[in-house]
Amino acid sequence: MELIIDSKENIAARAAKQYIDLLKGKPNAVLGLATGSTPLGLYAELVRLYQAGEISFKDATSFNLDEYVGLPPTHDQSYKYFMMHNLFNHVDLPEERIHVPSGLDTSAETLSGYDAAIKAAGGVDLQLLGIGNNGHIGFNEPGTPLESLTHVVELTLDTREVNSRFFQSLDEVPTHAATMGIRTVMNARSIILIALGSAKADCIKKTVQGPVTAEVPASVLQLHPNCTIYCDPEAAALL
Ligand code: GLP
Repeated sequence: MELIIDSKENIAARAAKQYIDLLKGKPNAVLGLATGSTPLGLYAELVRLYQAGEISFKDATSFNLDEYVGLPPTHDQSYKYFMMHNLFNHVDLPEERIHVPSGLDTSAETLSGYDAAIKAAGGVDLQLLGIGNNGHIGFNEPGTPLESLTHVVELTLDTREVNSRFFQSLDEVPTHAATMGIRTVMNARSIILIALGSAKADCIKKTVQGPVTAEVPASVLQLHPNCTIYCDPEAAALL
């Protein structure tokens, strides 16, 4: 993995440049996208570049990492809503090529259909990741098998507490999520993980310098041939 330590603003610009380069060379690229507060700077930069005519998503396809089970796409805390609001409503990615796991239909057929759709689209060219404080990627919590495909996970109390800041109360935070599996993520041709802030310092140390273990799901990225980890100085503080 390549480690880049830079300011939050420069990380957004440098990661956005990877999207410009990818889409210039391959306009119909398949993008794996993420939610959370971390990618917001990158998404704002992609919207700005689109408005400036420097990037187009018109031939691209997207697959998001995860979705809360039980939340409809219209719920303001659903990840589909987040993506529409922060990126898709502002760029030219056609709606029919936007994919977010369903939070309402989590049948085995639908879950395996998500991996099948990624494969049918040609596989993910560039997968974007944030990281949970416990090292989760997507919603693959510690202990998730490294060979997992898209599946439903039970969220840890820790994750629900961290994410409860976006809900009225902890009780409202869904207990389960549908997420791409670790194998699904690792199948991407290239990966960007962004970590911002001191709350990520411990999991970044384990991700970059610790052993590869299912207990720190992001540590598996050490085995990926084309993975860039962008950290701000606070997230890199323990390296
Ligand atoms: C959620 C998402 C992850 C994300 C994580 C970190 O748990 N499922 O994909 O990486 O939050 O969120 P944040 O970027 O807000 O720190």
